[in-house]
Amino acid sequence: MTAEELLQHAMKARENAVATFSHFKVGAALLTTDGRVYTGCNIENATYGLTVCAERVALWKALSEGERSFVRIAVGSGGELPAAPCGACRQLLWEFCGDLDVVLGNASGVKELHHLAELFPRPFDQRSL
Ligand code: THU
Repeated sequence: MTAEELLQHAMKARENAVATFSHFKVGAALLTTDGRVYTGCNIENATYGLTVCAERVALWKALSEGERSFVRIAVGSGGELPAAPCGACRQLLWEFCGDLDVVLGNASGVKELHHLAELFPRPFDQRSL
């Protein structure tokens, strides 16, 4: 599956975002090594602090279905500058997925291609314990 196709999955998931407070909608699509796609959107609530990012929703869905091997994540948002995963999501994606390809984009398509190791250098992970 191409980066563009994976981004389309993320943009579709973005339509379900529960962005009641920020009005900033995000969708994510996580591709497994076997070619399956798990999507997520951001979900906010009245405490604000319990908000879950689109990336983590996709990751939890995939892990809870038994998936353990991943190759790429696409993150779709609005506006000109596409959203990049927050620090908490970078930590979790690194721990559970390793050095993913990271595709960032919006309604006009793919805008940036990264590797997670470049976005999250010098991590703390199991090897540190
Ligand atoms: N958000 C995501 O879901 N993913 C990102 O990559 C950046 C931020 C969400 C969290 C919150 O619901 C809203 O965007 C504004 O921060």
